[in-house]
Amino acid sequence: MAAKNFTTTNAGAPVASDEHSRSVGPDGPVVLHDVYLVEKLAQFNRERVPERVVHAKGGGAFGELVVTEDMSKYTKAALFQKGVRTPMLQRFSSVAGELGSPDTWRDVRGFALKFYTTEGNYDLVGNNTPVFFIRDGIKFPDFIRSQKRLPGSHLRDADMQWDFWTLSPESAHQVTYLMGDRGLPSSWRHLNGYSSHTYQWINAAGERVWVKYHFHNQQGEQNISGDVAAQIAGTDADYYLRDLYEAIERGDFPRWKVSVQIMPYEDAKTYRFNPFDLTKIWPHADYPLIPVGEYVLNRNPENYFAQIEQAAFAPSNLVPGVDVSPDKMLLARVFSYADAHRYRIGPNYNELPVNRPVSEVHSYAKDGPMRHGFAAHTQPVYAPNSFAGPKADPALASEGRGWETDGEFVRSAYTLRSDDDDFGQAGTLIRKVFTQEQRDRLVDTLVGQYNALTVDAIKERFIWYWTSIDQATGDLISARVVKRAAE
Ligand code: HEM
Repeated sequence: MAAKNFTTTNAGAPVASDEHSRSVGPDGPVVLHDVYLVEKLAQFNRERVPERVVHAKGGGAFGELVVTEDMSKYTKAALFQKGVRTPMLQRFSSVAGELGSPDTWRDVRGFALKFYTTEGNYDLVGNNTPVFFIRDGIKFPDFIRSQKRLPGSHLRDADMQWDFWTLSPESAHQVTYLMGDRGLPSSWRHLNGYSSHTYQWINAAGERVWVKYHFHNQQGEQNISGDVAAQIAGTDADYYLRDLYEAIERGDFPRWKVSVQIMPYEDAKTYRFNPFDLTKIWPHADYPLIPVGEYVLNRNPENYFAQIEQAAFAPSNLVPGVDVSPDKMLLARVFSYADAHRYRIGPNYNELPVNRPVSEVHSYAKDGPMRHGFAAHTQPVYAPNSFAGPKADPALASEGRGWETDGEFVRSAYTLRSDDDDFGQAGTLIRKVFTQEQRDRLVDTLVGQYNALTVDAIKERFIWYWTSIDQATGDLISARVVKRAAE
């Protein structure tokens, strides 16, 4: 017999009223044994998990990656073999704003991908820019606090942002991207994504190469002006979220081409700058893009909280055939994300449907809050054991799992090379990549940023920073802000 559509408690029992608490007589005081009232109020108080400490505002969708090219020469990873189709989830986000902040505030945009591969989840947690503000994870909390809010007034603060950036000149390249057109994409569908970091690919013969991923949107890159962004921010805070959701609902599925840059393993020892420095790109002239395949986003989440808010992306989610590089930032991130998830969602976050791998889990982790998987029930709970419990894969051990056996190499990766200055690639971006219109808009934006500063020392360093990146840009800003001061 079909169940009647009664309201029930969370334990499944039907309730007597949706609108009235149980009381002593119709107008008397409510009673504590109104279990439904108590459950409803108590559950409501616990409806939130902490928002992400960064990238709090975002949205996403499910899709599929199809590999169209033969990558077996470079990696044995199952998901990158020709013809393989892998289900996936993508979450887009802004970095600094809180959960309800407007989508079109100027910011870097997060570009997080989770591939549910036959060998476990593989996550690529990148941005819409190929570089980052800092090159050592120890500065990450300081950087983020400088972009968030003052402790007293709880206001965001231009002095604080530019103080950090101008005292951290390695930020120049990423700040140039951010203050340029890419800081204001027209939607999530119209932005490109990057792994930013260098990773390692390992083929079936155990040979390794260094790899950077690029994701080019097939809708065409589009950005909006500062005025339009400000107007949208005031009228539709969820502009990007709405755009992605509605596009997928009407069957207009966004697509991204997947390519990689490959650097032979030995090149890293002598390349003219540190190829593991996250503030640098590898010029395409040195390492051209190699096509891999394409992915499409074709399914909206059915429940935002369950599938997007509780989605847990982590650079530590790696699969055989892919490994980390000696990039200090990446190594810090490998710790940070799973730690954030244990705190934000709970230690068994990988059991939630959105995070659960499609491959079988045979880990020796046990119990903890909200554990409900039974896979470990029938196996011994310790290793080693004599009872046919799961055993680690010796093939992975013999692969060496990375570069750590080569101590000299790790040290050479941390040694600065001739082209390892902070301003060079940022200047090239302005002079060689930006058009004249883009340069004009950059200067307009920077004059506006300068005008929000109140501390003289930071104003001076602002001009020094931009003149160091590009003399002409620095001069143009100086001329306009000096003129304004004289008026
Ligand atoms: C050492 C430096 C970094 C640290 C410690 C760090 C830490 C974090 C943490 C704790 C979160 C929140 C995770 C959560 O609660 O779900 C996060 C989110 C995120 N980070 Fe980082 N991060 C770092 C650098 C980067 C870099 C370099 C990129 C891009 C290249 C990046 C991209 C992202 C993205 C896209 C998200 C949002 C993921 C999602 O959509 O859930 N982060 N980061």
